[in-house]
Amino acid sequence: MNNFEGKTAVVTGGGGGIGESMCRLFAAQGMNVVVSDIDTTAAEKVAADLVANGTKSFAVTTDVSDRDSVKALADKAFGEMGNVNILCNNAGVVSFAPVHEQSEKDWDWVVGVDLHGVLYGVQAFLPRMLASGEDGHIVNTSSSAGLYAFPGIGPYVVSKYGVVALSETMYEELASTKISVSVLCPSGVQTQIMHSQRNRPDRFGGAEDPGLGQSAPDESISPAVVAGRVLEAIQNNYLYILTHTEIREGVENRFKAILDAFDRLEASGGTGT
Ligand SMILES: NC(=O)c1ccc[n+]([C@@H]2O[C@H](COP(=O)([O-])OP(=O)(O)OC[C@H]3O[C@@H](n4cnc5c(N)ncnc54)[C@H](O)[C@@H]3O)[C@@H](O)[C@H]2O)c1
Repeated sequence: MNNFEGKTAVVTGGGGGIGESMCRLFAAQGMNVVVSDIDTTAAEKVAADLVANGTKSFAVTTDVSDRDSVKALADKAFGEMGNVNILCNNAGVVSFAPVHEQSEKDWDWVVGVDLHGVLYGVQAFLPRMLASGEDGHIVNTSSSAGLYAFPGIGPYVVSKYGVVALSETMYEELASTKISVSVLCPSGVQTQIMHSQRNRPDRFGGAEDPGLGQSAPDESISPAVVAGRVLEAIQNNYLYILTHTEIREGVENRFKAILDAFDRLEASGGTGT
């Protein structure tokens, strides 16, 4: 997709971090922008800034872990803007503990936002994007943790692998249509992700003091750089969007371990009967 002027983008988690940078970059391309976030104040601030700079934009309060909330977002976006050409399923959260120490609500919350939230976005938007007959693109935000496992964030890793799997499947399925798919796999980015607990809904245990989060990794880059990679991928129809060369070894190690298992199997006689 290369023609952005007058088209519409919807970004979940658009009230801050990577999502906010994507909203601002899409607006700079002449797009209309729907800023969706569970944090109403943050989303309204971003949308107001965009409007002040001449963009057609509004905020929609959305909890992406709630299917009806995402359906309502789609109804509002298509209803007010006429069509949606770019959907960024970007909202995400993380909780920190070994797998066996993550509570049931930790799992429900993180999988609810990071995996189900992306799926709900696809379900609510994709059929209408296809029916429009216009060019379109869906960007699902995963993580380097969607490419190989990191200890201490099990629900996040499970969800982010799922987002890669969903995106790879969709990329194949949509190859002959006007809608393309990318999966964004960043590593450290300077955002509030380490303070995700600030926006934890009550049904998943409620919000906590934002000060309780962990520090961002040292190699963190700016969200604006990530948004630039996203735009480049939309223009060139890239499936995978990477942001850090540093994660290459982790990806290679994962696939080497899988290939080593094939070597062992073949050395011991292969598939057998
Ligand atoms: N920052 C990083 O280092 C990093 C690395 C890899 C992947 N990511 C991914 O990037 C995406 C964006 O995160 P970020 O780093 O900008 O963090 P962030 O916390 O700055 O922004 C996330 C946004 O999502 C919103 N949000 C949280 N729960 C929500 C919900 N239930 N419904 C709707 N919105 C919700 C928050 O209010 C916030 O505005 C996430 O999917 C995250 O997993 C981030």
